[in-house]
Amino acid sequence: MNKINVFAFVVGLFVMLVMTVAATSAAPAAQASKGDADRGEYVFALAGGCGCHTDSAGFLAGDQEGNAANITSDAETGIGDWTDEEIIDAIRLGVDRDGRRLARMPVEVFSQISDQDMYDMVAYLRTIPAIENEITDPDTSDLEEFELESDPPARAPTRGLARGEYIAQALAHCGDCHTPPNTAFMAGGPHPGFNFVPNITQDNDTGLGEWSEEEIAEFLQTGDKPDGTQIEPGPMLGIIKGSFSKWTDDDALAVAAYLKTVPAQTLGAPASADDESAQTLPQTGDAGNSVQTALVALALFAAMLLTMGVTLRMRVRRRGNR
Ligand code: HEC
Repeated sequence: MNKINVFAFVVGLFVMLVMTVAATSAAPAAQASKGDADRGEYVFALAGGCGCHTDSAGFLAGDQEGNAANITSDAETGIGDWTDEEIIDAIRLGVDRDGRRLARMPVEVFSQISDQDMYDMVAYLRTIPAIENEITDPDTSDLEEFELESDPPARAPTRGLARGEYIAQALAHCGDCHTPPNTAFMAGGPHPGFNFVPNITQDNDTGLGEWSEEEIAEFLQTGDKPDGTQIEPGPMLGIIKGSFSKWTDDDALAVAAYLKTVPAQTLGAPASADDESAQTLPQTGDAGNSVQTALVALALFAAMLLTMGVTLRMRVRRRGNR
């Protein structure tokens, strides 16, 4: 092999390598193998443990009274034979695989869970023992279709305020319980589902204004309040014991830091026009996208080199033929 042939060969090898890397990394987050069940178990704890789906029939086997589906891997009455994508659509868009709207899935919250967290959580759900328990479908014909306002991020933010906001908003759904209908974001008050929910805005008198970030984080992991008492048994202690107690210190502190940024409201203050903006999630999908863009650029560059290599080779051959 002469020098130019060696050059073409090396370029070819390089191109193949780059193409393989690009193909495996830039593929859409759509394969079941992308999910990691251990990581998913933690995402599940961040999300509060999907508590509505557990009643006397067993862990995640559904709750007939609330029409919450059986989400164990039972093929007949659960989601055992659903694909990852069908399960993700159910969580994100609140539709079953026949396109029927599910009754009370908090899609406004879960629609912003990142692709990776979704695949991990689905991988975890698949490890839950199957329990046969038929839940009758509620009539949801009057429910409107839910449309995504913005694409969920490919990956979740990993630290800081963005992480805290992501956990509180997209996973732990604090606002779902702490914002009763027509009430300002997290301002608490009488609640149709829980009698009463506390104000967790930064108001000093009726909210968490006097709690330090460390105290909020400690409460989320233990249920212990700054005054030394523990919260009474109820929905909050239930979710803490079942889920939030498993959070890392960093994640609990990130959520606490985010809560410090929620504007103070008096208990039960009515919703105003700006509340909408408080509930919009940050756009966090950029990091994943830029990696893909870089890989595509690299692949294009490699293709260019390949063309150059082939041209050179052809020239060398032609010269040889003469
Ligand atoms: C399932 C509904 C639900 C979710 C989700 C939820 N909470 Fe609560 N929370 C409650 C209820 C209800 C109470 C009142 C105590 C009780 O009845 O359990 C409460 C109490 C609290 C308290 C005690 C306040 C006080 O003054 O005593 C804090 C702080 C709190 N929640 C913060 C949060 C944060 C932060 C999140 C999200 C990470 C969250 N909660 C998620 C329902 C919920």
